[in-house]
Amino acid sequence: MGLGKEGSAQSHRFKPIGMAHRIPDDTKRAILDAARIEEVVGDFVVLKKRGANYWGNCPFHQEKTPSFSVSPSKGIFKCFGCGKAGDSVTFLMEHEHMAYVEALRYLARKYNIEIQEEELSPEARQRESERESLYQVTQFAADYFTKTLWDTEEGRNVGLSYFRERKFTDAIIKQFQLGYCTDSWAAFTEAALKNGYDKKYLIQSGLTIEKEENGRMFDRFKGRVIFPIHSLSGRVLGFGGRILGSDKSKAKYVNSPESEIYHKSNVLYAIPFAKREIVSQDMAYMVEGYADVISMHQAGITNVVASSGTSLTEEQIRLISHFTKNLTLLYDGDSAGIKASLRGIDMVLAEDMNVRVVLLPEGQDPDDFAKAHSTEEIRKFLKEEAVDFITFKTKLLLGESGGDPIKRAEVIENIVNSISVLPDKIKRAVYLQECSRLLEISEADLLNRLNAILRKKAQKQMQARDGGSLPVPEQHEATGRVESENASVEDDGNLLVERELLRLLVNYGTHNTTQVYTDEAGNDVPLLTNVAFYIVSEITQEGFSMRESSHQALFSIFADSLAKTYVPKVEDLLLNDDVSVRELVADLASSQYEISENWEKKGIFVKTELSDQGKLDEAVTQAVLAFKLIRIREMIAKVDKKMAECEMAKDELAVMELIANKKELDQRKAFLCGMLRRVVS
Ligand code: CTP
Ligand code: MN
Repeated sequence: MGLGKEGSAQSHRFKPIGMAHRIPDDTKRAILDAARIEEVVGDFVVLKKRGANYWGNCPFHQEKTPSFSVSPSKGIFKCFGCGKAGDSVTFLMEHEHMAYVEALRYLARKYNIEIQEEELSPEARQRESERESLYQVTQFAADYFTKTLWDTEEGRNVGLSYFRERKFTDAIIKQFQLGYCTDSWAAFTEAALKNGYDKKYLIQSGLTIEKEENGRMFDRFKGRVIFPIHSLSGRVLGFGGRILGSDKSKAKYVNSPESEIYHKSNVLYAIPFAKREIVSQDMAYMVEGYADVISMHQAGITNVVASSGTSLTEEQIRLISHFTKNLTLLYDGDSAGIKASLRGIDMVLAEDMNVRVVLLPEGQDPDDFAKAHSTEEIRKFLKEEAVDFITFKTKLLLGESGGDPIKRAEVIENIVNSISVLPDKIKRAVYLQECSRLLEISEADLLNRLNAILRKKAQKQMQARDGGSLPVPEQHEATGRVESENASVEDDGNLLVERELLRLLVNYGTHNTTQVYTDEAGNDVPLLTNVAFYIVSEITQEGFSMRESSHQALFSIFADSLAKTYVPKVEDLLLNDDVSVRELVADLASSQYEISENWEKKGIFVKTELSDQGKLDEAVTQAVLAFKLIRIREMIAKVDKKMAECEMAKDELAVMELIANKKELDQRKAFLCGMLRRVVS
């Protein structure tokens, strides 16, 4: 399997950087039109089609059953578990940590859309181009290193022959885009500069090192063979470079330093080449090194990735766990490999992953082992030798303790600790049983120990929740406290009603609606209009949310565009420059039914399926009335407060006036409540 279209070398021919531009709106629209959300998301998340939509496990939170949906017709995704929602661009921004423009460029590349650019302000252009520049320079380097390997004499004689000596086939060398960096001080750096790449990004990406003393520049990977490190989608993020010989005075590998685009702890080597097989086997093998991965892939076992020399991180585990819950660590039988597998393993267990270990015959790493055996032999060995992790650890530690009773006690504590991090109760029981057998201790004793640990953990959690280290808000006097609590409930209600109004605007703005106006004389007059016009004209812009800026911003868009008698559609709104607006729109566009239990109980909102006209009219009326009711209540609260002040000050005249004022408001409130009940019943 090769890289995705977006990762192919040929699509990365950029004009030299330092000329960043703005993407015009019609190009943005063309890009968003071309983007198939199910394909964009599908590059990162395993999706299954069900009905009109696709479903998968949410990549933004941990879950076992899929509640992450992708709607091809609307071009959006939404997770019903954590609430995250958005379009293709938002997805890339959130998931791949791309900047807005970077995401658009990524999509443009993926769907072969040419970007005709406009000039951009210098500050904005710098901000937006920084990460993109790093990607570009990194991709340039990847292309340069492969070209050097295949097309230069030194590359072929030194680099390529090294790989071939290690029995890597040409096909696998090409698939992993292995390369070579010429053994001269700055050949690469000079080539990059000549091609218009900025020194700043060469240094930021770590490809070039600048000597502090004299400002001389040289190539980090000089004279090394190159292993590019790819993102999930196949973009090059950084490199590992290996020396050719075994010169003990030099580091065997040098790697790209951390940068804006390369975060070592988030990356798994070979993940884009392994992800499909990981899903289809529902299992991933984790090895230590670049060479291990490549040899296993070459042997036909392709659900293999590497942590590349770091001990496993939480981010790496999370990355894997989107594809499978079954992880098998595959290490050589020497002590370093075993130690590596012990490190950080409780963390993997805590993620509810099933972890197993295969130890290879002493002194062999997966690279050696894969080369010495046929694919069938390897498969058979891996299948037969895999041991669950807790059993593995128990046996190992027990062997190390050598019968010393103090060490033995430590081992027991250590193992029970590992068991205690398992989220699953049944699994804990199974392991307890197994360890009781291995450690020759009664299950009851182990269970006591386990419960003590679990109790201690629960206590710690409670302490953390109850404040402890968390900042404790200042204690209010009793009445003040009650008040502020009420206010927050009200706030939630207000936001809900606002959200409902915005949902109607976004999804049904252009629909016709018949609403009843009560004229001066108190007569009901039916009026045919569209939803957007009715809502906006009933609710003044100023009156809209003071609490939630994205609500305010989205409402303003409708209010402004109505002056031009144009109702914006979802597609238009998704082009908005404000990311909070885009997210809100995507979220609202995927909310067919929006309802709060709270409101339902209060009889204000009922569940509405807005398929027929009557229901839509009703929903619009309700939302507008509910909004007005909230405003009236707020005004009444203000008047009450003022009145209390005036009473304190014994300002009777003012009090009288306020009473009259309040009476009017109360009447209005009663009227609105009556209307609402009329609609609801
Ligand atoms: N590593 C590193 N820096 C080093 C040594 C190792 O970053 N100085 C990382 C590399 O990602 C390497 C992995 O740790 O792939 C495993 O190390 P090792 O087993 O020593 O390397 P191999 O991949 O087996 O390399 P080779 O077979 O080429 O010796
Ligand atoms: Mn090796």
